[in-house]
Amino acid sequence: MLVNNQHYRTIWPQRILTNGPASVAIVDQTKLPHAFEVLSLSNLPQMVHAIKTMQVRGAPLIGAAAAYGMALAAQEDATDGALQVAATSLRLSRPTAVNLNWAVSRMLDLMLPQPHAARAQIAWAEAEKICDEDVLQNQAIGQHGLALMQQTAPKNAQIYHVLTHCNAGWLATVDVGTALAPIYAAHEAGIKLHVWVDETRPRNQGASLTAWELGQHGIDHTVISDNAGGHLMQQGLVDMVLVGADRVSSAGDVCNKIGTYLKALAAFDNGVPFYAAVPSPTIDWSIKDALGEIEIEQRHGDEVAYMHGRDANGDMHSVRLIPAGSNTANPAFDVTPARLVTGIITERGVFSPADLISMQLSKACD
Ligand code: MRU
Repeated sequence: MLVNNQHYRTIWPQRILTNGPASVAIVDQTKLPHAFEVLSLSNLPQMVHAIKTMQVRGAPLIGAAAAYGMALAAQEDATDGALQVAATSLRLSRPTAVNLNWAVSRMLDLMLPQPHAARAQIAWAEAEKICDEDVLQNQAIGQHGLALMQQTAPKNAQIYHVLTHCNAGWLATVDVGTALAPIYAAHEAGIKLHVWVDETRPRNQGASLTAWELGQHGIDHTVISDNAGGHLMQQGLVDMVLVGADRVSSAGDVCNKIGTYLKALAAFDNGVPFYAAVPSPTIDWSIKDALGEIEIEQRHGDEVAYMHGRDANGDMHSVRLIPAGSNTANPAFDVTPARLVTGIITERGVFSPADLISMQLSKACD
């Protein structure tokens, strides 16, 4: 994706040593939108820290980051025990997005049968492969989402209004994005678009990240408070709600950033289609009851109590919003039940929740 007209991925290996890559570069998302900074991570603890503190974030990207975390670990100690310890620390770094666990398992399954001496090199190559696959999947999601938009005329016949929540764009993946992929594809295809960007309290991924990356691409957008979406839908100002997901159950329930459920309820009530755009590693076929089985990450209450931003002089500040002594709760994700989901846009096409269920039934009968 473009940053000041230069193409970047969100994560890439850096070949510092002559005998192979030794570190991983990431875009530090905690600094955006105020500064674009690239960080170099050279060991497993640094990668775990980057995932926990959300320097890297978004389900597909934390999967890719965890894969590189395994490569960094293998570079230092590629014995079975050390790799298992590394896998556990990565798995515990964030619990909700299935992509992280998926990537760690894929790396372990590949490395453990190999001789110790070969494991690091294999790991670097596999992490790169995971990244390249992510980009291809997202490009395909973009094309399927574009086809959906082309099938339905916007309500005002001129501009297609999409509402999105959190950041499921380039920054949440290796490149292109999931929910924003159809938006980028539609923009390239010459469709007139406008994006309503939910600010996405408490961490403001919409206001800070989605708005920033849409701006870098010249896509018309408006940041709204999280509470505005229902009103805009009632006014006929939203043609589609398009979000990403951290995990989709085998029944088509969508676990995504906190607040997604409320958008889906409002969309349902107003006849607005609600789509989740997800690459296949985000579908967890083992989960039947998303509400009961998916661990919802509980983050620190300070994310609710404080806001961070720049003052008129460009200096960063944190300000406390709530009274001393008030309690905070900060569940980071919620589950939108399949009955509110119009479709899941994947790299293989668009599926309704009912399609997902019949795909499993036919697999079971094979
Ligand atoms: O807490 P975050 O910022 O990692 O949450 C990200 C989201 O909820 C995204 O919508 C989801 O990971 C899909 S990213 C393509």
